[in-house]
Amino acid sequence: MVSRVIPVEDFDLVIFGATGDLAHRKILPGLYRRFIAGQIPETAQIIGAARTRQDDATFREQVRAAVAEFGGVAADEPQLDAFLSLIGYVPIDATGEGGWSELKSRVRPGAVHAFYFSVAPSLFGDIAQRLAGHGIADANSRIVVEKPFGRDLESARALNATLAQHFTEEQIYRIDHYLGKETVQNLMAVRFANILFEPLWKAEYVDHVQITVAETVGVAGRGSYYDKSGAIRDMVQNHMMQLLCLIAMEPPYHFDPNAVRDEKLKVIRALEPVGPDDIVRGQYQANGDGTSYIEDAENPDSRTESYVAMKVRIANWRWQGTPFYLRTGKKLRARTSEIAITFKEPPHSIFDEGVPKADQLVIRLQPNEGMNLKVMIKEPGPGGMRLVQVPLDMTFAEALGADGADVPDAYERLIMDVIRGNQTLFMRGDEVEAAWAWTDPIIQAWENGKARPEPYDAGSSGPEEALRLLHRDNRRWREIRA
Ligand code: BG6
Repeated sequence: MVSRVIPVEDFDLVIFGATGDLAHRKILPGLYRRFIAGQIPETAQIIGAARTRQDDATFREQVRAAVAEFGGVAADEPQLDAFLSLIGYVPIDATGEGGWSELKSRVRPGAVHAFYFSVAPSLFGDIAQRLAGHGIADANSRIVVEKPFGRDLESARALNATLAQHFTEEQIYRIDHYLGKETVQNLMAVRFANILFEPLWKAEYVDHVQITVAETVGVAGRGSYYDKSGAIRDMVQNHMMQLLCLIAMEPPYHFDPNAVRDEKLKVIRALEPVGPDDIVRGQYQANGDGTSYIEDAENPDSRTESYVAMKVRIANWRWQGTPFYLRTGKKLRARTSEIAITFKEPPHSIFDEGVPKADQLVIRLQPNEGMNLKVMIKEPGPGGMRLVQVPLDMTFAEALGADGADVPDAYERLIMDVIRGNQTLFMRGDEVEAAWAWTDPIIQAWENGKARPEPYDAGSSGPEEALRLLHRDNRRWREIRA
């Protein structure tokens, strides 16, 4: 059971950086999947724009190959040909004048215009200025920008200011692809479409929260980017922060872009600074045949973290006294993302045998999306009243009979939201800046120090020190397993 597909309006989508990795792996295959789902009108135009000099036909063949490799659906030639007929290409010079008048002649008046900046942030200003200067973009156009949105508060502010010279906040769609994930949106549905959880969703009843995003991949192939970022910039400032916000925020008055983003912003602003005792950084080392981080990053002196765990506190009424433990890392033992909410133990036990354990709600984001609520019951059978904890386990796909192929990937959903003009799942400029304002001192303290990240074995659960972060609070991490 997957909700019905509502076609979007006629549109022209221009992808700057159309020959790049993101366009080939995610954007173009995602558009194809939406096309075959019947969501994209047959009159729409998808125009690739990049420096390479080539014609429409050559680019279409690249798109055909990208769809075959990354589309995740069996190639259906007639449908693929129909999709390719929407595709065009304009060679463009982002920092010069070449190609802009041709682009202008291709973009149709009357259609929704979206411009996807799948390029280095250093080009955002040049492209924005030329789109506006050549009259290609107008007050109804939308632009889509990718992470990294800055590498600190100052650069994020500068990017926001650059874009603001030509576009209003309502026209800017800052992508955090975690917000496009089906189950991440489910966090809001679980919290705000049920009466069951919300009354307990506060420090009085929640002992602590664990947010884990564990990956098995390393950084080989993208070491030069990653080594300048590390896990904090790459994952915590954006994806983990968004998960934290959705778990911790107050109910917005409506599922409306600014109402939702206002509430997320309040959470970010309420985050307490994280001191050195509350954070552990790790760097993977080779284990068996694999490579180490420093080999993958090709930087023998690197102090960049491929793993981070931290204890975060939110200074507001709802969460006073409930820690949020966050951890994310590369080359860990399993790929799994989950949020675990551990409730407090009942204040008094009436049973002689077996102390009631704390209930726990685990929301699995990927893979195998679902929810698991651990509750106490009586152990079946004779022999008195003994307690046992059992899981009420639900896998969303099974429960809803959803076919994975029908569930849009994050990029597909987000691009369709751009065309619809819905900013709910995109980060607002003030949100991004607030996230950097909190992250900056953590990064600066590290950069000013001399310490090295703690080594951990590839394929393990991360550095030992991360265990201590919870042990000293008499808590333990959940096991990382698929
Ligand atoms: C990206 C990061 O934003 O998210 C990557 O740059 C990371 O380092 C990726 O691997 C994780 O995304 P997902 O969708 O695979 O969980």
